[in-house]
Amino acid sequence: MRLAGRRAIVTGAASGIGRAAAELFASEGASVLAVDRPEAELHFTSSDIRPLGLDITGQDAPREIVETAIASFGGLDILYNNAGVGHSKPAAEMSDEAFDHVLAVNLRAVFRLCREAIPFLIQSDHGRIIATSSVMANGTDYGLTAYCASKAGVLGLTRTLALELGKHGVTVNAVLPGAIATGMTKASFDQPEIAAVWAKKSVLRRLGQPIDVARVALFLASDDAGFVTGQALAADGGLTLRI
Ligand SMILES: NC(=O)c1ccc[n+]([C@@H]2O[C@H](COP(=O)([O-])OP(=O)(O)OC[C@H]3O[C@@H](n4cnc5c(N)ncnc54)[C@H](O)[C@@H]3O)[C@@H](O)[C@H]2O)c1
Repeated sequence: MRLAGRRAIVTGAASGIGRAAAELFASEGASVLAVDRPEAELHFTSSDIRPLGLDITGQDAPREIVETAIASFGGLDILYNNAGVGHSKPAAEMSDEAFDHVLAVNLRAVFRLCREAIPFLIQSDHGRIIATSSVMANGTDYGLTAYCASKAGVLGLTRTLALELGKHGVTVNAVLPGAIATGMTKASFDQPEIAAVWAKKSVLRRLGQPIDVARVALFLASDDAGFVTGQALAADGGLTLRI
């Protein structure tokens, strides 16, 4: 029970990595506020997971999310900013709206939720901020202007928050997934030839599963990572080893 008694928020918890993390955190003893869009299906078997349907880009969403966690659990130890959206379009064809939406979900909402949670994380003896960035923070692919900018932004935010919060004992780290079979990648990886290409790119010769990334988030949330801060840890099966 590596998170016994800890109180956590996990965003994007209806699907993929977020769902796996919410369930894993709860199985390790945490109380979890599982946040996702109102239209998403938030059903969990564990009574330690409390669902909250809310768009994280809403003006009042950060306050509502943190207030709900505090009202439900009496405090906050772990903020896992995981919700994200993908978008692929050549830069010359990308609309302002599409660019702004990716940045609003993947970066701005992360900042605003961190800002709201910080006073409570400082009060915790085990304050943790974790973000799901991406290997695309350091690499790229066609059509990923907005996505790469947002995920690189998350790394800048992570480093700076780690610097600012270190004196309070709060650690701030990012996990960088590679090619993971989730809702976001379903349309691609349901096509066997595309799944095979990405599986082969990984030196472990397989696609990642949500639990592969959730376990890294668990490590960063746990006491095992108590002296780790400001870091970006890839969970990509070696996808990015070769240049
Ligand atoms: N799947 C991959 O290969 C991969 C690779 C690198 C990084 N990531 C990152 O992993 C994170 C999790 O994505 P996933 O792969 O599990 O995909 P997913 O689509 O299965 O899960 C993402 C969740 O975020 C939620 N979400 C989106 N916008 C939201 C909003 N405005 N408010 C609240 N919730 C919102 C979605 O409803 C969804 O449940 C994302 O940040 C993504 O960018 C994924």
